[in-house]
Amino acid sequence: MIRVMPRPVPQLKLAVLASGRGSNFEALQNEIESQQLPAVIRVVISDKEKAPVLEKARQKGISARHINPGQFAERQLYEQELVRVCEEYEADLVVLAGYMRILGETFVGSFPWRIINIHPALLPSFPGLNAQRQALEYGVRYSGCTVHFVDLGVDEGPIILQAVVPVIPGDDEESLSERILKEEHRLLPQAVRLIAAGRLELNGRQVTILPEEVN
Ligand code: GRF
Repeated sequence: MIRVMPRPVPQLKLAVLASGRGSNFEALQNEIESQQLPAVIRVVISDKEKAPVLEKARQKGISARHINPGQFAERQLYEQELVRVCEEYEADLVVLAGYMRILGETFVGSFPWRIINIHPALLPSFPGLNAQRQALEYGVRYSGCTVHFVDLGVDEGPIILQAVVPVIPGDDEESLSERILKEEHRLLPQAVRLIAAGRLELNGRQVTILPEEVN
């Protein structure tokens, strides 16, 4: 049994890894600014130089770093650099918020049960890329999103939270993605809040949400 954060942390230090638009980053930052989330985003790291998320972070005065995987001869070296930067910013938790690369042993092993990911489907259905399109093509009636711990599998780690949305007749990838995204923006900060409060316990694949402490 692992208590993910042994005790409540007054201000959880986050490293956010993202490859694109950054709306999940914004959702986290909004909740931090409105004091709904006892955390601080210390650094945003992207594998894409032109990712809008980097600009969004800079506008908020948050350190924004582009680390180019192409500059490293091996994935291990790239991941070592990622670890170094996350450590430089003393991250307690790494949040993958639309980060489109698979992380291996070097990175994942450096932050055991301290990396979470948001995926736009109800895992274990539709892992990997284009989850919303996969769901539509399969013909499911419901989809949603999942926040999970990251292990060495692709979108396979223990599930923290899920939210369900209906698939509505006539939906296309865009309309379904938008409906799911609204839930992502609620779910990701909620997962971080639970971790900051020391309320998650891990037993194999099972994540238990402990009751709120009342003083
Ligand atoms: C989200 O749908 C997330 O679940 C997926 O990529 C998208 C990122 O969106 N992994 P954004 O960059 O946070 O706006």
